[in-house]
Amino acid sequence: MPQSIRPYLEYQADRVEAVLAAHRAPGRITGGTVGPRLIRFFLNPAPHIRFASVKRLADDLALAMRVPNLRIDRGREGIVLEFSNPNPRPVELLSLLAEASPLPAATALLGLADTGVPLMARLSAPEVAHILISGTTGSGKSVLMRTLAGSLVLAHRPDVLKLICIDPKQRAFTALAAAPHLVRPLITEPDETLEAFRSLIRTMEIRDQRRECMPRIVVLVDELADLVMTGGKPVTEALTRLVQRGREAGIHVVAATQRPSAAILSGLMRANFPLRLVGRVVSANDARLACGRGGTQAHLLEGRGDFLAVNGGDNPLRFQVAYIDEQALENEIKDVLAFGPPRATTRHRRTR
Ligand SMILES: Nc1ncnc2c1ncn2[C@@H]1O[C@H](COP(=O)(O)OP(=O)(O)OP(=O)(O)O)[C@@H](O)[C@H]1O
Ligand SMILES: [Mg+2]
Repeated sequence: MPQSIRPYLEYQADRVEAVLAAHRAPGRITGGTVGPRLIRFFLNPAPHIRFASVKRLADDLALAMRVPNLRIDRGREGIVLEFSNPNPRPVELLSLLAEASPLPAATALLGLADTGVPLMARLSAPEVAHILISGTTGSGKSVLMRTLAGSLVLAHRPDVLKLICIDPKQRAFTALAAAPHLVRPLITEPDETLEAFRSLIRTMEIRDQRRECMPRIVVLVDELADLVMTGGKPVTEALTRLVQRGREAGIHVVAATQRPSAAILSGLMRANFPLRLVGRVVSANDARLACGRGGTQAHLLEGRGDFLAVNGGDNPLRFQVAYIDEQALENEIKDVLAFGPPRATTRHRRTR
């Protein structure tokens, strides 16, 4: 831990203990972690103090600590208090990729979990299969899409993994235009999208008969709401079929939207995204909608790549999305093209 942050941590721990004592809910900070974006304190409450009584004090604690948001959770370490690091460090995709390489097959790198380990998503696993990304504007959805797609392209050869990129706003995937993994040029129009979905459904049916799933095809959709609104029922129906039946045929959908409301996504479609990646949302209600369950406090996330991974039964995992800017990703992909098949592993190790 850098020496300079120690006085800040001690000051904050004292504030927490003072507020708790003043409200007759005493407890001690017994440890914690300092992450790139977040600081976590582990709180050990006195034996007669209930978790709910500490949680009720969130606003008073945040005020005393002078932090904009304080998330309070139960964890293995006791009660966990999470707040933003006053000296945030970016998480860089390329260095994280070097650390995490070699990535397993069909796996994307997402970022750094608050436990300090790289967070990956293996698309072939039933608990991942299709990914729904949500969060308000500026939460970092398009950056997450770029990171996810970039890590797939840099770590997988185009004969084992293909991409289809759909983006009505033409912003998220420009860096990928030269990647040999693209099945077709970047798609921006609803007609092209529908045609691509129908062709994927045909591929899915053929693969089902032959019991094939290779090469994996990852369909990336930024601005899903725009697509559903302009493409209407035919697009929605085709996409629903892909998420219902795609996984076994090696077809995976990763889609982003600000709010996965019923007006945009039917319940059927929503139910078929096993993994939810949720950035900052504007209300507790939106948090429930985005996560598909309550109690995640996603409205207290910080924005700009501060995300939760929500997956059925387990506790949501908080992580910082790894960042790469468009130009850097484009250059990296060009390097890969120039120097032969992508082997993110060896190339990045050498440059480290
Ligand atoms: N992981 C990250 N690390 C560092 N900065 C980030 C990260 N994610 C997002 N940002 C910053 O936040 C800005 C907005 O991110 P992004 O465009 O991905 O938001 P969005 O959720 O797609 O918003 P919209 O719904 O308006 O499209 C980025 O331009 C970048 O400056
Ligand atoms: Mg966006």
